[in-house]
Amino acid sequence: MRNFFLFLALFSLNAVARPTAPGNTQIAIETQRTALVIRVNKEGDPTVVHLGKRLQNSAEYGLLSDNNKRGEDYTNLYNSAYTPAGSRNLLEPALQVAHADGNPSSDLKYVRHETKTVADGVVLTTVFLKDPQYPFEVKLFYKAYQNEDVIEQWSSIRHTEKKTVRLQKYASANLYVPAKNYYLTHFHGDWAREMNPQEIQLTAGLKVLDSKLGTRADLFQPPSFLLSLNKPAEEETGEVIAGTLAWSGNYQIQFEVDPLQNLRLIAGINPYASEYMLAPDKEFVTPAFLFTYSNSGKGQASRNLHRWARKFRIPQGEGNRLTLLNNWEATYFDFNEEKLTTLFKDGKKLGVDLFLLDDGWFANKYPRNDDHTGLGDWQENKQKLPHGLGYLVKEAEKAGIKFGIWLEPEMVSPKSELYEKHPDWVIKLPNRAEYYFRNQLVLDLSNPKVQEFVYGVVDGILTKNPTLGYIKWDCNAVIYNAFSATNPNPTHLYVEYVQGLYKVLERLRAKYPTLPLMLCSGGGGRVDYGALNYFTEFWPSDNTDGLERIFIQWNYSYFFPAIAMCNHITDWGKQPIKFRTDVAMMGKLGYDIVVSKLDEKELAFSQQALQTYSRVKDVIWQGDLFRLISPQTNDMASLLYVSEKQDKAVWFSYLVGNRYREGSMAPIPLKGLNPGKKYKIQEVNTMPGDNSPINRNQAVYSGDYLMTVGFNPVVDARRTSVVLEISEQN
Ligand code: DGJ
Repeated sequence: MRNFFLFLALFSLNAVARPTAPGNTQIAIETQRTALVIRVNKEGDPTVVHLGKRLQNSAEYGLLSDNNKRGEDYTNLYNSAYTPAGSRNLLEPALQVAHADGNPSSDLKYVRHETKTVADGVVLTTVFLKDPQYPFEVKLFYKAYQNEDVIEQWSSIRHTEKKTVRLQKYASANLYVPAKNYYLTHFHGDWAREMNPQEIQLTAGLKVLDSKLGTRADLFQPPSFLLSLNKPAEEETGEVIAGTLAWSGNYQIQFEVDPLQNLRLIAGINPYASEYMLAPDKEFVTPAFLFTYSNSGKGQASRNLHRWARKFRIPQGEGNRLTLLNNWEATYFDFNEEKLTTLFKDGKKLGVDLFLLDDGWFANKYPRNDDHTGLGDWQENKQKLPHGLGYLVKEAEKAGIKFGIWLEPEMVSPKSELYEKHPDWVIKLPNRAEYYFRNQLVLDLSNPKVQEFVYGVVDGILTKNPTLGYIKWDCNAVIYNAFSATNPNPTHLYVEYVQGLYKVLERLRAKYPTLPLMLCSGGGGRVDYGALNYFTEFWPSDNTDGLERIFIQWNYSYFFPAIAMCNHITDWGKQPIKFRTDVAMMGKLGYDIVVSKLDEKELAFSQQALQTYSRVKDVIWQGDLFRLISPQTNDMASLLYVSEKQDKAVWFSYLVGNRYREGSMAPIPLKGLNPGKKYKIQEVNTMPGDNSPINRNQAVYSGDYLMTVGFNPVVDARRTSVVLEISEQN
C-alpha cells in the first residue's frame, strides 16, 4: 500500500513538471477580447484548455498545458467540454443517458467541427461528438458575439438507436476555469424581495443553484450569477464571468471545485423529475447558457450583456418604449368603465403614452373581483365593462393615450368555467388534494390543445382590438403536484411546459412583431433571457418602495439593461415622489398611483419629470451603465449612464443611509466619459421652487477632470436624491 502511494506521488509530480503534449486539434472560440479554447486530447475527448482573455496570436493556444493542472486527473476528463457519465468520469456529468439497450454509460469523441459567420459580428462554432459504441451524437454550439464579448452556448442530442434513449441529464454548457480561488455571487429572494446578492468563496466540491418551481421558476433564485476569479468581485477591476441560463423553467447550475482546484461549471435544465425519452432520429436541443468574461470587473461584464441584449435578444432592444399609467395599486379589482375613463384623462394630464388595465376585467360566471376566481375566462366582465374592451380602447384613444391590458393566460382558477370544461388541462395529481399558489392552478402547456387555447386568447383579443397597444403577461403560481393528464411521458412535463410556452410566444411574436409585452411573474418570478426573446420588458418586483427599489434594480442591472426594466412610481414606501421618480427613471418609467391625489406641486413635478425623461431616456436605455457607489456597502448609491458617443450622461445619486451627516462628503470620480471632451453639469428633476446648488455653478469640466477629481452631487439628508444631466460643450 505504502508503495502505491509513493508511486502515486512521484507520478503526480512528474505530471505537473511535464505538461502533456497538446493534441492536434485546437478550436478557438474567440470574441474581440475573450477566448474559449477547446482542445481534442490524445483520447479524442474535447477538453477546455482556456477561458479568459484572448491571446494576440492564436497559434500560442497550442502552447497551453493541458489546463494548468496541479496534479493528476485520474480520468483525463475533469476539463471535458461535455462530460459524459457512466464510463470513466468521476465527477459531475453534463450528460447522463441510458441507451436503448439499457447501457447506462456514454463516451463522447470528437468527430469534426465547423465555424461560420451567421450574422454581422456573430460567429457560430459547432463541435460534433459521437459515442464510439452507439449511433448517438451530441453537437456543442458556441455563438460568439464579437463586439459584445458574449458567448451563447448550447447543445443538441440525437441518436438512431433501435429504441428510445433515456436522457437523465442534458446540460447546455460545461466549462472549465482554472484560478486560485473562486468567488460566486448568486442571488436569492422571494415575493417583493427579489435579487438579494450573496457572495461566497467556493470550496472543494459542489455548489448548486437551482429551481424546482416549474413556473415562476426564479422566485427563490434566478439562473444568473457572477463568478469572480482569484479575489472577490469588484466593479471595475478583476476577472469576472457573468453567466445566465436562457430558460424559464427548472434549471440547475453547478459549480464544482475539482480535486485539482480548478472550477467545473455545468449549466442547463434541471434534471429533477425530468427524464426525457428521446426517440430515434429526434433531436433534443437544450436552452442557451450565456456568459461574458471581463478582466475589468463586474461593470464591464454587465455592459457587455446589456449591449448584447439590446442588439441581439430583446425585441426592439434598440427601439422605443411607452411610458404608462397602471391601475393595479390605484384600484385593485374595484373599477368600472366610468372610473377607468377618468383614469385615462388622468394619464393624459400626467403625460404618459399608455393606460394599462390590470387584473380584474374579466370572467362572468365567476367574476374576477378578487384573486380567487375567474382566471381562464377571458371575456370582459359585463358588470364592470358592459361595453367591452373595444369601448375602452376607443375611450383611451379619445383621451389621447393608448390602451393595454393585463393577462395571466397560463393560469386557471379552481372557480372558473375553463376548469369546469377542461379539468384535464390543469396540472394536478389525480389522487392528491389540490394545492394552490395565490388561489390558482397552472394550465398544462405541454398539451398542444392548451397551447392553442392560450394562443387563441391573446390572438383573439388582439384581432378584435387591433390598436390595443400593450400586454402585461403575468404568471403568479408555481407548479405543485406536477402531473399532466394528457402527456404520454409524465417526466416531460416540466420541460415541455416551457417549450409549449415558447411555442405560443413564438407564434404571437410572428404575428405581432412590434407589440410591447411586459414579462411579469407576481413581481420578478421569471426574469431570464429565454423569455426575453419575446418580451420587450420585465417587471422586476412588486416592491416599488423607492429605497428598496434602488437595491433591487442595482442587482438586476448586472444582467439586464435599463430599457427592459419596468420601474413604476407607486405609493409604496416613505420616500417623497421626487425620490421615487428619480429611481423609476433608471429604466422604463411608469406610474401606478391615483393621479388626482397628487397635490399641485407633485403633479407639476411629475409632468415636468416626464418631459425630462423623454429628453434623457435614450442615454439611460442605450447608454453604458457605470455603477459608481454601491448601496450594498455605502450610505449612498450612485449610477451613471453614458451615451455611446460620450456626449451625454445622466447621473443618479441617492442617500440610502440615515445616520447624521451621511451623504456625498467628497467629489465622486465619474467613469466612461471622454477625457478630452468638455462637459457641463445641470441638475434636473428638482421639485418646483427648489433651488439647486449645482445649477448656481456654470463651470465647464473636462472628462479628464471629472474622472480624476470627480464632482460632488451634494447628496445629504435634505437632498436625498439627485439627478444630474451631463452634456458635452463645444
Ligand atoms: C402580480 C403582479 O406583479 C402585479 O403587478 C399585478 O399585476 C397583480 N399580479 C395582479 O393580480
